[in-house]
Amino acid sequence: MLRVGFYQFRPLFGKVERNRRKVVEALSQVEADLIVLPELPFTGYHFAGRTELEELAEDLSNSPTLWTLGELCARKNFYLVTGFAEKSGKDIFNSALLIGPDGLIHVYRKIHLFDREKEMFTPGNTPLTVQEVRGTKIGMMVCFDWIFPEVVRTLALQGAQVICHPSNLVLSYCQQAMLTRCLENNVFAITANRFGADRRPHGTLRFTGKSQVVAPRGKLIYQAPSQREELFLAEIDPQQANEKFITPRNHILEDRRPEFYRPLCR
Ligand code: ACM
Repeated sequence: MLRVGFYQFRPLFGKVERNRRKVVEALSQVEADLIVLPELPFTGYHFAGRTELEELAEDLSNSPTLWTLGELCARKNFYLVTGFAEKSGKDIFNSALLIGPDGLIHVYRKIHLFDREKEMFTPGNTPLTVQEVRGTKIGMMVCFDWIFPEVVRTLALQGAQVICHPSNLVLSYCQQAMLTRCLENNVFAITANRFGADRRPHGTLRFTGKSQVVAPRGKLIYQAPSQREELFLAEIDPQQANEKFITPRNHILEDRRPEFYRPLCR
């Protein structure tokens, strides 16, 4: 069994130190194996432009946010998957980090950028791979990756049992779609969304909350309210994700006919 969940909260735009402190305070009393945080939970999301993002993003080789979260994971003996504005040379990636008691384990850089993110971030260049956390295979994706079913399928084909999904959702379709992703791949998914709004001089962007944990077969374990802070944890049995037969004669991965899917790879 694995104790997993999410922390849905309201980051304050540009207040990186305050947002870090908020996360550390919220998670300091928690007993868990794996907690997922939203996308870009330390910087905020609604950047005026690239210059502002550059000022707030951090390089992983010198990141107070990574030090703080690494220390938290070591002290609490849990794992975190968190969004992160990652500076790397001239590029800035909208990344997700897997951090454990011994520090940084994996970096995934969002491959499907949403809307104005395309003006500011570099599209991800890391493959979709699977990591092991306490014997469970986890896959990572970030927010808008949800609309491409290929992402969860690619992770499921590599054995992912739990999809960790930091998000800053502004549309209302994702939660429903993730039930289907979990049905068609028979995996768990933890979507950690933020709530509240980034009120900026150039406009206001509202986020939709409703973070959720979904089980194989598309069963909703829990969905948070849209506009409230929430720390949710549940015991799951990751082995449930290994049963890929949906009828005795239908294996959802082995019954695929990739020879008919060639346009997918063009
Ligand atoms: C999103 O990808 N932040 C909608």
